[in-house]
Amino acid sequence: MSATGSAQPMTARKSGPLVGTAAVPGDKSISHRALIFGAMAVGETRISGLLEGQDVLDTAKAMQAFGATVIRQGQGLWSVQGVGVGGFREPSDVIDCGNSGTGVRLIMGAMATTPITATFTGDASLRKRPMGRVTDPLALFGTQAFGRKGGRLPMTVVGAVNPVPVRYALPVASAQVKSAVLLAGLNAPGQTVVIEKEPTRDHSERMLMGFGATLTVEKTAEGNVITLTGQPELRPQTVAVPRDPSSAAFPVCAALIVEGSDIVVPGVSQNLTRNGLYLTLVEMGAEIEFQDPRTEGGEPVADLHVRFSGAMQGVEVPPERAPSMIDEYPILSVVAAFATGKTVMRGIRELRVKESDRIDAMARGLEACGVTVEEDEDTLIVHGMGAGGVPGGATARTFIDHRIAMSFLVAGMAARAPISVDDASPILTSFPIFESLMSGLGAALSRDAR
Ligand code: S3P
Repeated sequence: MSATGSAQPMTARKSGPLVGTAAVPGDKSISHRALIFGAMAVGETRISGLLEGQDVLDTAKAMQAFGATVIRQGQGLWSVQGVGVGGFREPSDVIDCGNSGTGVRLIMGAMATTPITATFTGDASLRKRPMGRVTDPLALFGTQAFGRKGGRLPMTVVGAVNPVPVRYALPVASAQVKSAVLLAGLNAPGQTVVIEKEPTRDHSERMLMGFGATLTVEKTAEGNVITLTGQPELRPQTVAVPRDPSSAAFPVCAALIVEGSDIVVPGVSQNLTRNGLYLTLVEMGAEIEFQDPRTEGGEPVADLHVRFSGAMQGVEVPPERAPSMIDEYPILSVVAAFATGKTVMRGIRELRVKESDRIDAMARGLEACGVTVEEDEDTLIVHGMGAGGVPGGATARTFIDHRIAMSFLVAGMAARAPISVDDASPILTSFPIFESLMSGLGAALSRDAR
């Protein structure tokens, strides 16, 4: 199975030192949001540095289907002529969000309080993922949703005719659910309130304020209380998308485990809702220098100077850190395999409902590579084998999951024997230049099976 049709096996072999500058593409979360908020503003939003991965391209296509004019003007340069809050038109065909949970969940929120009907679908991975976490709170606005058993896609969403504002405490730490509720709240009169016990990525809040909505975030004993005043006129913006810290994680972690490496990854977000991996790596003894801290595209960023770190130690990752590194556990578990001692990752059951069951995918793949792991519903424990100690010599299944594919390819760059992935094509959803960027640093990647 593949994101694009035919499976593309890929193999990583023990690589020479990785050296150079790794300029990773734009942030996926911010790219989706720039297109969606742009489509809900009145007038032209201009975006630079947009991630041109398949997930984001599918969102751009969806915004067109809802009536916005979305034009690519150059590499990463996009213009969105928005139709205003409540201005979406009914799409004439099914909206296919491909592999993207963020795309489908945010777009469902964005159309939920406009009196139109839309049917959503996606690839085999997305059609397995739960949508009830979004359609349950949307029902409070008066939105109806009809999907397959277990709230699966394909699903038809009927927007509320007379939406009411809602007050909703998130039952799971999810920025997608938070964002869907806020997007729906945009076209409801009065104040919509979302309460999150644990802070999750805050790009929607930052961007809503940037587009001129009235939004406050109050830190209370219950957690963050986010209050949005409905029915604003969103003002178009110029959005400079910063680089993606979740993509940066792959060259950073590769350099930490490939002997002799010395690379710079410029402009990596230091947003506290996204930087959990980097805190963890430093605790493990990773040699990372955070240089030239500054603000880019409204986000705090730094240049990361990363050197091979042969003496990393396993750590216990605090469970409350999970939301700030939720997409980085697969690559962290690879680094953990090359560290000394145990790395314990608890409080990560959300990984089971990502593009794949990531606890299972990592556990099975690492075992095949000769690494001892333990897992339960909510936990993954990796027994490190030290620098250069991972045998490899296996093929990992990627389950249509870009981050599983990239994680095992990084592992193969430092393992004793080559590691293949059965299908690298999903990498195009989030990091289309992964192969050329990593090869440019010195990684030995080839498009074949072991
Ligand atoms: C995202 C939120 C996270 C993350 C996903 C992107 C977002 O999902 O895993 O890759 O852009 O809001 P959850 O909200 O389900 O945790």
